[in-house]
Amino acid sequence: MYTKKVMKHFQKPKNYGEMKDADAIGTAGNERCGDILKIYLKIKNNKIQKISFETFGCPAAISASDVLCELCKGKTLKQALNITAKDISEYLGDLPKLKQHCSVLGKEALKKAIEDYKKN
Ligand code: FES
Repeated sequence: MYTKKVMKHFQKPKNYGEMKDADAIGTAGNERCGDILKIYLKIKNNKIQKISFETFGCPAAISASDVLCELCKGKTLKQALNITAKDISEYLGDLPKLKQHCSVLGKEALKKAIEDYKKN
């Protein structure tokens, strides 16, 4: 069902874990399955210096969020917001159709984290 790349990011995500000194945190929930995902950001000079995530989501959500973190590192906040579900899906070599909705969870949490950062 999943590609090798999806399984690799699911089994050994590089960016999984809480960030104690985060500058911003965003949380998003998936209405279809009830899963929750949190994104942590460390920001310097308007760029994402460090990023990590935690989730109770499925393998697709874990892999997609790990890839999102990889794609966000070193990017400006605007560039990070412009990363699309298609970018993530292309990087992973496609997700099963039924799992497409899982890949947007990370993006929604990222958006909330950036909004939270801009408010402060
Ligand atoms: Fe819940 Fe994928 S089934 S995030």
